[in-house]
Amino acid sequence: MLDPAQGIHAPNSDPAALAEHIRPLIAGNWKMHGMAPQLSEIEAVAASVKATPPPADVLICLPATLITRAVQTAAGRFAIGGENCSAQISGSFTGDLSAEMLKDAGARAVIVGHSERRQYHGETDAIVAAKAKAARRAGLLAIICIGETNAQRLAGKALSVCAEQIAGSVPDGMTASGTAIGYEPLWAIGSGHMPTPEQIIEMHTHIRQCLTHCLGAEGKKLRILYGGSVKSSNARAILALPEVGGVLVGGASLKAADFLAICGATPVSA
Ligand code: PGA
Repeated sequence: MLDPAQGIHAPNSDPAALAEHIRPLIAGNWKMHGMAPQLSEIEAVAASVKATPPPADVLICLPATLITRAVQTAAGRFAIGGENCSAQISGSFTGDLSAEMLKDAGARAVIVGHSERRQYHGETDAIVAAKAKAARRAGLLAIICIGETNAQRLAGKALSVCAEQIAGSVPDGMTASGTAIGYEPLWAIGSGHMPTPEQIIEMHTHIRQCLTHCLGAEGKKLRILYGGSVKSSNARAILALPEVGGVLVGGASLKAADFLAICGATPVSA
């Protein structure tokens, strides 16, 4: 099976070096935005990544309707992903898309368990885990999202809520090359409110401990992305924090210029 992370790395990356040191992942999430005219943003990202390759793996997750065209437009300069998948391979599930279908369309990754899926579609940890397994089965990088609400944080439960989500949403046997965690505090998504650097470090360190507990050595290497109001103005500081292996970017991924500024904020030594 193709290493799911392969397509996420720059084409000329040395696989041996990458195996030892996984590069940061800058992942966009367009959510339910984008039609044919917005493919020009994909074209602009591809042109810039070709001209000035960032020291990071670059991915944009898109509505399924755009994936095939975006894959053609990106021309292998960076990876395209989906935003959700079914846990099933195929069958009578009208309106659903399997991980295999996303792969067939050219996707290299899929977001599972985004808080908007958990909130508006009732996705439980068990459903998210089944979707993560489906991504693994199809050879897609699974970006498994977790994060606490504001009420949970105010109640002092942020760490325990995220530990519980990891225990329930990250299946046994997930690998570092096939999985990333997206830590997205719900109160920071689309709000402009950011956790402090100390809060991000505390949570990412805690997530690392949880992952090491469930996945052993793979859990030590797996990338933990921060998501929630990431912009070009704060990306450099976030990406420099310990245990931050990349970012998951919503609103600021819609415009190539904004997204490229975030890609360019990756520490060069990373
Ligand atoms: P935001 O969204 O960057 O617009 O806050 C992040 C996300 O929901 O993935």
